[in-house]
Amino acid sequence: MGRRCGRHPRENQTLRWIADLAGWPASAGGVFVAGGTLGNLSALHAAREWHRRYRPCEGCGAILCSSEAHSSIQAVARVMNVAVIAVEADETGRMTAQDAIPHLSEAVFAVVANGGAPNCGAVDDIAGLADLAQAHGLWLHVDGAYGGAALAAPAMRPAFDGIERADSLIVDPHEWLFAPYDNCALLYRDAGHGAAAHGQQAVYLDTVDKTHWNPSDYALHLTRRARGLLLWYSLAVHGTEAYAEAIATTRQVAEDIAKGIDATPGLDLLLDPQLTVILFRPQNMDEAEMIAWGEMVFRLCIVNPATRADEVLAILETLT
Ligand SMILES: Cc1ncc(COP(=O)(O)O)c(C=O)c1O
Repeated sequence: MGRRCGRHPRENQTLRWIADLAGWPASAGGVFVAGGTLGNLSALHAAREWHRRYRPCEGCGAILCSSEAHSSIQAVARVMNVAVIAVEADETGRMTAQDAIPHLSEAVFAVVANGGAPNCGAVDDIAGLADLAQAHGLWLHVDGAYGGAALAAPAMRPAFDGIERADSLIVDPHEWLFAPYDNCALLYRDAGHGAAAHGQQAVYLDTVDKTHWNPSDYALHLTRRARGLLLWYSLAVHGTEAYAEAIATTRQVAEDIAKGIDATPGLDLLLDPQLTVILFRPQNMDEAEMIAWGEMVFRLCIVNPATRADEVLAILETLT
């Protein structure tokens, strides 16, 4: 941990753990914010400021993302008064760089890649999108609010190849890192870009020692509480290996449930789980019943390693 981070060593150790999983250099850093929505907003504001600095643009008016991006990207765009260009995801829910290329325009300043899409769990083609961002001078943000936890499991890390070249990342530990609500890790590969966008100046703040790391500088906030301690404490007690195992176990449970659904007469597995989201449909429901349930597709998202596949499958049998 660099000297700059010395003032908030525990939160910054936790952020450093995530930065290491992403393969980011010592320049990386960030802060814990209230949730993924605020994390996405802070990252995308930093993206636009960065873009404006090196390439003053008329518009700086559009974010490119997948049609499977979380609703918070739309919310962020409304707050920032920019457009969202949604690229149709492929049949697995994944956005590829090839599909994104035709949608690029002068207005685009950032690409948002899903690191675990909320509806289907897809991880976008991060390596291809990193190439694209590099070639066109765009910021690449990875929304790993749910799926970023998978970085901790070595077997799943390859799905995120290219993340080492992303500019920002969020991971919401309440989703799949077994932490309570209200702490989202927001990281920049070069923390300086976060500070350039978010650092506040005021006479009464002049007494704050600007030579030290100040977590207030990395998101849309000033006064804050030390949210990151929740995850730090659990990591310190259980160790990072326990996290890797718990995430791998969760993934295995999701695979076992998906296989069980596939083998159950009367249930249709609609998508092989990419992380731990399982989409399926009972065959015997007519359209009216489906509509009464409110969805044509049933979704399970497994985030607890103690969930048992046999118990879930026993419940699902009752749908057939
Ligand atoms: C992929 C993704 N991004 C962003 C969010 C928004 O996070 P929050 O509810 O913490 O604002 C979520 C929440 O489910 C999510 O799954």
